[in-house]
Amino acid sequence: MIIKWPGGKKWLYKKHSSLFPNSYNNYIEPFFGGGSVFFDLAPKKARLSDINPRLISLYLMLRDDPEKLFYETLKLLESHSDTQYYEIRKKFNKAKKGSPVYFLYLNRTCFNGVYRENLKGEFNVPVGKRNSSYFPFQLSDFLQGSLALKNAEISCCDYLDAMKKAKKGDFIYIDPPYIKYEKNYDAFRKYNEKVFSQEDLEILADAANSLKKKCHILISNFDIDAVKDLFPDWKYKKIQQRTYISGKAEGRKLVKEALIFNY
Ligand SMILES: C[S@@+](CC[C@H](N)C(=O)[O-])C[C@H]1O[C@@H](n2cnc3c(N)ncnc32)[C@H](O)[C@@H]1O
Repeated sequence: MIIKWPGGKKWLYKKHSSLFPNSYNNYIEPFFGGGSVFFDLAPKKARLSDINPRLISLYLMLRDDPEKLFYETLKLLESHSDTQYYEIRKKFNKAKKGSPVYFLYLNRTCFNGVYRENLKGEFNVPVGKRNSSYFPFQLSDFLQGSLALKNAEISCCDYLDAMKKAKKGDFIYIDPPYIKYEKNYDAFRKYNEKVFSQEDLEILADAANSLKKKCHILISNFDIDAVKDLFPDWKYKKIQQRTYISGKAEGRKLVKEALIFNY
């Protein structure tokens, strides 16, 4: 995928494709983020959403005008400097929905590809160290991304609204932000002004449980009792996955993850 996203699951479909259902109507992903599972799975019809309006604007431009997105971002990357980074960050924060080109430029050049906002909703990640792989793309990658999104309905909304639209036979992949589970270990959980809490996870579990009989549902999260206890009669597969999302030394440790599904 063309963006770096904290908590991205690019390993999931590659390592566990056999866990995905063989057939379904719509593919629904209500915590879309970097969309790694969607781009690997390439479903025929999809409804993709995320609470982040700037991220959603980026996907709309990728779908509808991939060439402009590619060339304008490339132009900014060619003149990249620390000074330019902070100028663009300021302009980006002035527009509520940001600008997809600025978003992508900042995403590729910021510290560790992290997305973080302050309490005023401003993107506040510092510039990263420049390296040769910060934009390893060709126009063809953008055209492919656009094609993958052609039959997707893309919207900015809360996951509960997205889940309410699920119909019988749909497949929902749910990848919420991690909740905090250990005093000294704070995985990257904060994508906007709000933190996803244990209470949010309980509300999510209620919504998933209410759709259990009509949809295929796959959920990824930490393998911890606080998660497991919310899905007592679901299938539960423990996996081991190293996560590099925190950026801090203490975040770089083996985190156990689990896949929870109802089919
Ligand atoms: C763990 S990330 C998803 C990562 C994605 N699976 C990937 O592979 O890149 C969680 C996403 O949930 C979004 N999010 C947080 N709260 C949300 C909410 N209430 N409704 C919808 N999306 C939300 C965040 O903006 C973030 O993109």
